[in-house]
Amino acid sequence: MNDTVKLERPDAASESAGQTPYSAWMQTDLLHALQHPVSDHPGEHAWIASVQVSELYWMLIIKELQTAQMQLRANDLSEACKTLKRVVGHHEPLNATWRSIAWMTPTDLLAILSRVQAKYGKDTALQGWAYRQMVYLLGIKQADHLQHFTPQPQRWTQLNKALYEPSVYDDVLAYLNRNGFPVSAAVLERDFSVPYQSDKSVEKIWRDVYADPNQNLELQQLGETLADIAEGFSMWKYLHLMATRRTFGARPAYFGTEGIAWLKPTMDEIPFPELWSARGFIGDPPAVCPHMTK
Ligand code: HEM
Repeated sequence: MNDTVKLERPDAASESAGQTPYSAWMQTDLLHALQHPVSDHPGEHAWIASVQVSELYWMLIIKELQTAQMQLRANDLSEACKTLKRVVGHHEPLNATWRSIAWMTPTDLLAILSRVQAKYGKDTALQGWAYRQMVYLLGIKQADHLQHFTPQPQRWTQLNKALYEPSVYDDVLAYLNRNGFPVSAAVLERDFSVPYQSDKSVEKIWRDVYADPNQNLELQQLGETLADIAEGFSMWKYLHLMATRRTFGARPAYFGTEGIAWLKPTMDEIPFPELWSARGFIGDPPAVCPHMTK
């Protein structure tokens, strides 16, 4: 599972030669050598730093989600909740990165993007594998995104594996199933690579978890933490959509179709679907026999 990042790394001795303990630990020389602007626009550095920081947070979230999966599989719900709470926190600085590039007008953005295209060819952030792996782990599985990684066979293989593996939500459902809330075999044993279909029996499980405010408290906490994660993720997509409106308008984007039109439907891809749909009846008074009203 932890094969996400495999890079050639120097051995520890050569890594710390000519370094202070801080610079060796934080790899500051390497880190600050990673920004290579392609234009003479004074804001490009802010763009690169903002995207690179986002990449770091996506990877951090991937690792946390994978850890939570292991903890759920070991039936350690309280540790899994602690790990997932960290993910909620990571979304805050991740979403704040948008402030760093909020100054951009279309003229600014296009000045930079035209230089990127001239130097590297036609790019799209859909070619970012860390974001896609995070999205797969959150349970939003769409195989067609793999097409962007054929030039990077190692990343294609990694993502293809993630596509077929259970998401965090699948591990949550398996945990519920092992702990008194039976989930149907059709859900538990389905092909994980195809988009998840909402299931009525899972919706009912969430209703039962929340039915009594004084029972299943740890599971309710899990549900609320997952809801926070889904909110943080959706907030990122909303901020991205607004940034696109501000800097790009209704221009055609990577696929030749209008960028905003491509992005808008992704706003409805909210992780953990039954956790949301069950809220349409969680808390409803129990159905009573009409004859009892007398
Ligand atoms: C502010 C200017 C930006 C514009 C105009 C823009 C535009 C777009 C558009 C039109 C798409 C749809 C696919 C395509 O046609 O390429 C897209 C996807 C995406 N962009 Fe951006 N983007 C911007 C900034 C960013 C930044 C700063 C990041 C990363 C920090 C980013 C990450 C992504 C990701 C991850 C996707 C895939 C979304 C998904 O699959 O739901 N974008 N962007």
